Amino acid sequence: MRYLRKGSLKRLFSVRRRSFEEENLNENENTEQDSKEAMVGLPEPEPSPKPTWRCFSYDEIVESTNGFNSDNMVGKGGYAEVYKGVLKDGRVIAVKRLSRASTDERKEKEFLTELGTIGHVHHPNVSALLGCCIDNGLHLIFEFSSHGSVASLLHEENSAPIAWKIRYKIAIGTARGLHYLHKGCPRRIIHRDIKASNILLTVDFEPQISDFGLAKWLPSQWTHHSIVPIEGTFGYLAPEYFMHGIVDEKTDVFAFGVFLLEIISGRKPVDGSHQSLLNWARPLLKEGDIERLVDQRLRGEYDVTQLKRLTFTASLCIRASATWRPTMSEVLEVMEEGEMDKECWKMPDEEDDEEEFWGFEDLECECNSPFSTSPQDSISTASS
Ligand SMILES: Nc1ncnc2c1ncn2[C@@H]1O[C@H](COP(=O)(O)OP(=O)(O)O)[C@@H](O)[C@H]1O
Ligand SMILES: [Mg+2]
Repeated sequence: MRYLRKGSLKRLFSVRRRSFEEENLNENENTEQDSKEAMVGLPEPEPSPKPTWRCFSYDEIVESTNGFNSDNMVGKGGYAEVYKGVLKDGRVIAVKRLSRASTDERKEKEFLTELGTIGHVHHPNVSALLGCCIDNGLHLIFEFSSHGSVASLLHEENSAPIAWKIRYKIAIGTARGLHYLHKGCPRRIIHRDIKASNILLTVDFEPQISDFGLAKWLPSQWTHHSIVPIEGTFGYLAPEYFMHGIVDEKTDVFAFGVFLLEIISGRKPVDGSHQSLLNWARPLLKEGDIERLVDQRLRGEYDVTQLKRLTFTASLCIRASATWRPTMSEVLEVMEEGEMDKECWKMPDEEDDEEEFWGFEDLECECNSPFSTSPQDSISTASS
């Protein structure tokens, strides 16, 4: 990667796109064909619109970030540092730089995955890529999200509680963004790392899905994809993904359900004492004791109808059985429209799902053997 030159970036993009599909084909030994879709012969997706991003010079981003000044650093994730910058025309940007310490080839691959994916998506609820710079390391340049991430707004000490109206807006906007990734954009994209620190907020508190380092393109005729290593974040991982590496839209739907519970309750998916949000919320959802799920800091100031919609949606999204989880189109229907028909979402035997469900304790056991935790909250298998 270090030898990449600017002139080859365009080629890199088309190569990356091809190689995603090839990679998927090679990896996908266990994938079943979705015969229904194959039979009706769905048309090939529309070619992506021309990318709107551009190349930035290294000097330009150095100048904008005041020489990557530590005062400008707004975020540090698993493999990157993010700096706030101001361009000459006054535009405020975020520069995501692959950590110098990161010599791991896989991290470079994640970085390029993000570049290749986000360069082709356009939606108000998906982070907009402005460009990249490949001199002196890898850099992605985004519009700056002035309110930072939902995680920082929700969990930072001394931060004022987020009003219910904004929480609801975040929930709906994130669902729309995810629906676009799954259904609306030229390629079917599974994000794989939906969580509060990857949902950024614009000046109007419009949520934007960001951080596409783990994203996967899935050919439309495939039902799912088997992935090794398993990567993602504790507390948000769907059981079938965590245990068998199976990835499809429902992996994101599960994480979205956890995210909903997080914004309703203001609790972290896994808190300092390793208490799982899912384990705490599940009995309350089951008993219909939804008012106890709401963040105490709101002091009862919330819309009950919206709360019912969000909690019902969350209860469907976190179902252990992926088949019984809704698609993002159905999620939007439940969240936004008319009557909630609980009957039509009833499973043949609710008890089965209960038994099948595993808690964080089980997850910890699994983690003691083949999995390793990183200093951040993400995990990956040590084996590959
Ligand atoms: N466009 C942006 N505007 C403002 N802050 C951002 C932006 N992009 C990232 N950040 C901050 O940096 C953090 C890490 O960025 P992210 O893209 O998630 O990196 P990583 O892949 O290392 O997790 C985010 O949680 C957020 O706080
Ligand atoms: Mg992140």
